[in-house]
Amino acid sequence: MATEKWVLMVTAQTPTNIAVIKYWGKRDETRILPVNDSISVTLDPDHLCTVTTVAVSPAFDRDRMWLNGKEISLSGSRYQNCLREIRSRAGDVEDKEKGIKIGKKDWEKLYLHIASHNNFPTAAGLASSAAGFACLVFSLAKLMNVEEDPSHLSAIARQGSGSACRSLFGGFVKWTMGSKEDGSDSVAVQLADEKHWDDLVIIIAVVSSRQKETSSTSGMRESVETSLLLQHRAKEVVPKRILQMEEAIKSRDFASFTQLTCTDSNQFHAVCLDTSPPIFYMNDTSHRIISLVEKWNRSEGTPQVAYTFDAGPNAVLIARNRKVAVQLLQGLLYYFPPKSDTDMKSYVVGDNSILKEAGLDGASGVENLQPPPEIKDNIGSQDQKGEVSYFICTRPGKGPIVLHDQTQALLNPETGLPK
Ligand code: DP6
Repeated sequence: MATEKWVLMVTAQTPTNIAVIKYWGKRDETRILPVNDSISVTLDPDHLCTVTTVAVSPAFDRDRMWLNGKEISLSGSRYQNCLREIRSRAGDVEDKEKGIKIGKKDWEKLYLHIASHNNFPTAAGLASSAAGFACLVFSLAKLMNVEEDPSHLSAIARQGSGSACRSLFGGFVKWTMGSKEDGSDSVAVQLADEKHWDDLVIIIAVVSSRQKETSSTSGMRESVETSLLLQHRAKEVVPKRILQMEEAIKSRDFASFTQLTCTDSNQFHAVCLDTSPPIFYMNDTSHRIISLVEKWNRSEGTPQVAYTFDAGPNAVLIARNRKVAVQLLQGLLYYFPPKSDTDMKSYVVGDNSILKEAGLDGASGVENLQPPPEIKDNIGSQDQKGEVSYFICTRPGKGPIVLHDQTQALLNPETGLPK
C-alpha cells in the first residue's frame, strides 16, 4: 500500500421502496429478522433516492459520516454491524491511474468517510432509512470490491434497517424471512424488474402531521409483545397473501394487486391498533384519502387505484395507468388544494409533467377542477387546504447504480471531506 495521502472514492444512488405486503415485527432484534415475508415496489430514484459517497484514505483517522451535510455518529449497533459485515468481505483493490493498491487485509486498518444525501425531505417520513442503508452497503461494496450478488448485500443492508434490504433491487421485490438463526437466508430477491409493469403511476400524498410518530422499530417491538392479531397475521394471513401477490404481479392483475395491497395496509394499521398501548399512524386526512379511493374504485366496478400507508399518515397511491393517475390527481387537488400562496409546481413534485395532462400547468387553477362525479359530495367539503403538504408523482423504478460523474460526489476528492 502506498504511503502518500491519496483518497479513493465511489458515489452511488439507491432508491427507496414502498411495501405492498408489510414487514411488521421481528423475531430477532439484533440481526433484524422478520416474522413474515414482505413485498415492495421500488420507487423511481429520479424522484426519491439517496446518494452516498464513500471514501477511503490512509489520512483518515476514524470512520466518519455526514447525513444531509451534518455529521452524525456511527457508534450505533446498526451502523457498526453493516460496517463490520462489509469490511469482512472486502477484496483487493487496485487503481492503476492513481497508483493505489489496497490488499484484502489492509481494509481492517483503513478508515472510511461517508456522506449521504436524500433528494427528498427526511422529515417527510418517506422510508429514508431504507434507501440510506441500502446505499451505504451498495457503495461500500463497490469501493471495497466486494464480490457478492445483490441478494447477499441485501442481508447486510437488512442489519441496518429491515426494509433497506428491498432497496437493493428495482421493480418488485420480495424479502424472504428465512429460517436460519444466523439470518443468512433472510434476503431480498427481485420478482420482476421495473419494466415489467410500467403502466403503473404512483402518487404520494405527503400528509401534514402535528404529532411525532412512534418509530417503526419501537412500534413493531410493542406489537410483537402485545398484539395477538400480529401473530395471527404472520402465521395464517401473510404466507397466503405473499403467494397471491406474487401471482398478481406476475400476471399484472391490477384488481387482485389492489385488493391485496389495500387489505394488507389496513391489516397492518389494525395490528397497530391492536397493540397496547395502541399506535395511530394514520390521521383524518389519511382516512379521507382512503374513503375517496374506496368510493371511486367501487363506483368504477373495477379497481383503479391502490392505497398503502406505512408508519405515518402519508398516502401512497398506485394508479393502474396514466389516464387514471391524471383523474386521481385532479380529484386529490380538488379535495386537498394548495394554500393560496403555493405555486402548483412546488405542490406537485417529482414527475410533474402530469400537471400538463391534468390541465394545471397554465393559468387554469384548481378552482376549475371537478372531482370524478361518482365521488363528489361524498368525502366532505372542499375545505382541506393545508392538510397535504405536497404530492410526489413517480413510478416503479430501477435499483442501485454507481454514479461515475465526479460532480455528483458529495466528498472532496482531495480531502475526503464534505464539499
Ligand atoms: C411500516 O425497516 O423502518 O415501513 O427494521 O426497525 O429499521 P427497522 O424498521 P423499518 O420498518 C418498516 C416498516 C414499514 C413496512 C415495510 O416497509 O415493510
